[in-house]
Amino acid sequence: VNEVELNLGCEYRWYAEGRTRFLSSAFAETPQGEPVAPRKSAVFYNPFSKLSRDLTVIAVQSYFQTPVLVGEPLAGSGVRGIRLLAETDRVQHAFLNDINPTAVRVIRENARINNVSERVTISQLDGNIFLTQHSRHGNRFGYVDVDPVGAPVRFLESALRACDSGGMIGVSATDLAALTGRSAQACLRKYDALTFVSGFSKELAVRILVGSVARTAARLGLGVKPLLSFSHRHFVRIFVSTSKGKAAASETKQNVGWFFFCPECFTTLATEMSNPPSRTCPNCKRWGRLAGPLWTSETADRNLLARMLDASSNYTDAQNMLRKLLEEDTSMIGFYSVAELARGMRTSPVSPSVLIQKLRENGFRATRTHADPGGVKTDAPPAAVRSIARDLLRTMRVP
Ligand SMILES: C[S@@+](CC[C@H](N)C(=O)[O-])C[C@H]1O[C@@H](n2cnc3c(N)ncnc32)[C@H](O)[C@@H]1O
Ligand SMILES: [Zn+2]
Repeated sequence: VNEVELNLGCEYRWYAEGRTRFLSSAFAETPQGEPVAPRKSAVFYNPFSKLSRDLTVIAVQSYFQTPVLVGEPLAGSGVRGIRLLAETDRVQHAFLNDINPTAVRVIRENARINNVSERVTISQLDGNIFLTQHSRHGNRFGYVDVDPVGAPVRFLESALRACDSGGMIGVSATDLAALTGRSAQACLRKYDALTFVSGFSKELAVRILVGSVARTAARLGLGVKPLLSFSHRHFVRIFVSTSKGKAAASETKQNVGWFFFCPECFTTLATEMSNPPSRTCPNCKRWGRLAGPLWTSETADRNLLARMLDASSNYTDAQNMLRKLLEEDTSMIGFYSVAELARGMRTSPVSPSVLIQKLRENGFRATRTHADPGGVKTDAPPAAVRSIARDLLRTMRVP
């Protein structure tokens, strides 16, 4: 293929991901090899979201038993949908949509290059109109992928309406300033949720996003269950399964609530929506922080994660992430950072794996977290964590 033949209306480059070769706009790179403002390029493609696409491929392959229809309202270069067609045998047909006419030309070319044109329908509509056109029973998707720049909130309701009961939805968010609490006002405005800055902000970001999807679903008489949730580099990504009915919706809503954190003594507390906690710390009586509504239960389905891990041998980065996610016990909210713990005790940090082992020996639950290599999740009370860490440091000093 040469440039004259293609006439894509933009300067393009060849890329490869998984088993797929494709075209998208050329982007400028920083000295660190990061893309410079991919949102300003003629057709959006960010190589640093590859992990999100790899895990999408593996999730679709592992979740569905039979081929389904896929809907991508914000397809960009089409790489995600085309990879789903080329790298799984669980997609019957993909509907790829983008509002940008240059993106639509690039999607058409990429489908042709990858020999999947017959199984792709391409459109150039506003994402919500596209999804609404697929919201009637018989016309819905098994898998819907919402991958915007920024917050996904404006597409959530129509994505849920366009997804079959028993289907799956993947949602990304890149507005980390809002979700991690650096811009708490933006979080309140967009996600209708309170938040605060802490060492475990990336986990709260995931929980606020899952909570937002769950609340939107419940309102529509749908239930959702988180299958896989993670934060990585510039984005947060979640996958949920959907199911129709009041019972599922009510059950979903029960997993959305409030989270209290005391930055003085590290006391944490999760409560139901109907029972917001007091801002006064029940332990030290000082003024604590409140986040929510957010998802207070597990943010992953371990059975699916294990199946995904089995299917991930060709995807090294995804495999590493899946291993971390399988290790993590997401029924506990928040985590300690060993560095922060050490600063508070004016000592040097202990190794997270040694601390985890000691906590377990003392009868507590403890795991690592994908969100921070120096993070430790545990149900041990803060005083016990400190005393165990202190004991560890003492024994470590003995030659
Ligand atoms: C982050 S990019 C998608 C990247 C792609 N999913 C991938 O994995 O590479 C977001 C895309 O949404 C498109 N977009 C923005 N607003 C839209 C809207 N209201 N309706 C449809 N597409 C829209 C942009 O043109 C852009 O291509
Ligand atoms: Zn306290």
